[in-house]
Amino acid sequence: QTIYLKDYTPPAYLVDEVHLTFKLHPTKTLVQSRIAFRPNPENPDGKFELHGEDLTLHWARINGQDWKPATRSGILTASAPNAPFIWEALVEINPSANTALEGLYMSNGVYCTQCEAEGFRKITYYPDRPDVMAPFTVRIESDLPVLLSNGNPTAQGEGWAEWHDPWPKPAYLFALVAGDLVNDADSFTTKSGNDIALNIWVRPDDIGKCAFGMEALKKSMKWDEDVYGREYDLDIFNIVAVDDFNMGAMENKGLNIFNSSAVLASPETSTDANFERIEAIIAHEYFHNWTGNRITCRDWFQLCLKEGLTVFRDQQFTGDMRSHAVKRIDDAIVLRAYQFREDNGPLAHPVRPASFVEINNFYTVTVYEKGAEIIGMLKRLVGDDAYARALDLYFERHDGDAATIEDWLKVFEDATGRDLSQFALWYHQAGTPRVTVTEEYADGVYTLHLGQHIPDTPGQTDKSSMVIPVAIGLLDEKGHEVLPTTMLELTEATQRFTFPDLASKPVLSVLRDFSAPVILEHEQNKAQRAFLLAHDTDPFNKWDAARSLAQDVLTDMVLHDAAPDAAYLDGLTAVLRDDSLEPAFRARVLSPPSQDDIAQALVDAGHVPDPTAIYRAHEALTLTIAQHLQDIAPRIFAEMAVPGPYSPAADAAGKRALSNTMLSLMSKTDGGRLAAQQYDAADNMTQQLAALTALLKIGKGAAQTQQFEQQWQHDRLVMDKWFGLQVGCAAPETAAAIAGALTDHPAFTMKNPNRFRAVFGSLKANTAGFHDPSGAAYDLMADWLIKLDALNPQTTARMVTSFDTWRRYDADRQAKMRTALERIANAPDLSRDTTEMVTRMLG
Ligand code: ARG
Ligand code: ZN
Repeated sequence: QTIYLKDYTPPAYLVDEVHLTFKLHPTKTLVQSRIAFRPNPENPDGKFELHGEDLTLHWARINGQDWKPATRSGILTASAPNAPFIWEALVEINPSANTALEGLYMSNGVYCTQCEAEGFRKITYYPDRPDVMAPFTVRIESDLPVLLSNGNPTAQGEGWAEWHDPWPKPAYLFALVAGDLVNDADSFTTKSGNDIALNIWVRPDDIGKCAFGMEALKKSMKWDEDVYGREYDLDIFNIVAVDDFNMGAMENKGLNIFNSSAVLASPETSTDANFERIEAIIAHEYFHNWTGNRITCRDWFQLCLKEGLTVFRDQQFTGDMRSHAVKRIDDAIVLRAYQFREDNGPLAHPVRPASFVEINNFYTVTVYEKGAEIIGMLKRLVGDDAYARALDLYFERHDGDAATIEDWLKVFEDATGRDLSQFALWYHQAGTPRVTVTEEYADGVYTLHLGQHIPDTPGQTDKSSMVIPVAIGLLDEKGHEVLPTTMLELTEATQRFTFPDLASKPVLSVLRDFSAPVILEHEQNKAQRAFLLAHDTDPFNKWDAARSLAQDVLTDMVLHDAAPDAAYLDGLTAVLRDDSLEPAFRARVLSPPSQDDIAQALVDAGHVPDPTAIYRAHEALTLTIAQHLQDIAPRIFAEMAVPGPYSPAADAAGKRALSNTMLSLMSKTDGGRLAAQQYDAADNMTQQLAALTALLKIGKGAAQTQQFEQQWQHDRLVMDKWFGLQVGCAAPETAAAIAGALTDHPAFTMKNPNRFRAVFGSLKANTAGFHDPSGAAYDLMADWLIKLDALNPQTTARMVTSFDTWRRYDADRQAKMRTALERIANAPDLSRDTTEMVTRMLG
């Protein structure tokens, strides 16, 4: 059944204190609770209701009296006193049988929890909603050596430990870990002089992979003090790595739990991209301590309140640690590839949805990444100083609250005096706005016409104009800036901006730094784009000119069999030679948009994309680039060699990114000679994996693939790469068969989400392979999602989005994808999670 934001009512009872005692057992864990409730004056007529799922209730008492509560579909009701009272209950749960990885479960012998969004109800009966906040005291009884929960440790003995978290928190931030773990320990002194104990807890084999995460944690703590004035607020901060985890990580108060892939790192086993992602996720979860934990969400419709802001903060952090320009480019690549795809398909939803069936289905790129873009736009509109003032006010006014998007916007209105009612539409209207651009120049006056329209999305039509910050600059014909970056505010359906006193018709650089998450409709010929690629002073737009050029070139190749344009190729050469540009930036310029990006662009232009034709064009373009750069590539490859021991630092990583771009291009013309050499010589995973990828992409590398397996079979995270790479690099007609064969490999298991994603996430990402006309990949994906749903609904519901583009394609592919979706929809006992997704996609 559907839950609506408009039906929100405050809780009937509030909680003053929670005491939990866990007697851990793999199949029969006992959870005893003692909870102090009191009636909420804000909802005096409300009923006492507790959530509970998959619990065996042994007994319950109210004020010491045995109580026989009634239960119906996950809700327990009891007629409770209209005065403060004590609820006590004993329930039994089975962590070993918990394959959904929600609530209390076991991962490789480690007890761990995942409660966001509504997993606490699988641990005990409780008002499992984020607006009920309480301090928790937890006692854990177990023979395992390490027993952890939220807050500070208060007492421990042989076989038990007690923890107290003084900060009132919602149940979704509860966590418990017990296991045979070891810790990498360190400390951090806050700016007001408190010494915080820091630990990363891992299985003993992984103790050598914690150092980088620990540094990232300390940098995050310092950064949040310096940039947002936020200090840590407990005596201890624990991170735990677990192998089986549905998402990246979780910000439980004082006890963050991480997918091991999001925290464990070593030069031999992790790529540069892994290091950067780990640094960002550690920061993200740490930053949640203020934006999420100290100020939480009133209800799950407000999820973007904590996620959009925290993603924005982790993006700022990565920009500060590494490169702002490159980070902005990488964020735009992700946004366009995944969020625009979502926003322009059957799963489109507002950043703050108005309804849902299963909240886990709304941990989306729209809520997270578009949510972060909204924060970025606010900051652009009000300016940096006003943003800082608004954030100070937010922390001051709402510390300890379960807040809403309205609260958030009000803080900005109060801090700046600005009316944000139209801006608020960004939270309510789904769909990617299209911004049209036309230009005129006469008598020294340049006139820019901007327009906007927002496409219909499921359940939403006839949308209102939004506030769109459009950053522009103007260049003269020599490439000098005649108008530096200027923020225009587009608020009407069409608007005109004039710029007088220009000696000649300027060249427009529009949507600088990707100032809003919109799609530009701007007629520009290849020569104009090549000019911007050569001269734009805004690094984002310089890169974006290369991207638009590549997109034009590829669509011309697909639609008209055209040859790659010389202006594009020469533009790439010039960038590659320009050593005033960061290597990481040059690597981004050299990479054309993905095949799915091209499909999106073709759909936007009114065509039916053919993934096979796009694949061929992509291959042909890559070969042409390789040939065009043949002379200069070896020189750049040599220049970018990083001497000495591996360092994951941004500059070294940037050099490797560029040298490996060269390697992959050179392998197109040297038969893989250099890649094979690099593979043999590699002393770090970045170099080893890049070499293997280059070989697989030219249909070679069989021996290296075997060698890699021999070398790494003991390391789960590296083996995930091994599984993923073979599927990801497979030629279209073989991708499904390779994925199918890998599911027979003894190390394949669908119980581990990382391993399942390695195979099936890579199949989805191999666009031409997934859409091979045989339909083999559709069938394989459907078969396995049906199997996985019985074990792990959350990961199934996420992966089933592989089919969300089905309406884009030709009749034959549509029919095949639809059949696959219907087969999933009709599977017996399909989970609520997957049912909701499939229903939305079938429309
Ligand atoms: N709050 C976590 C984060 O953003 C994500 C956890 C969501 N988990 C889930 N099962 N929906 O880092
Ligand atoms: Zn988050």
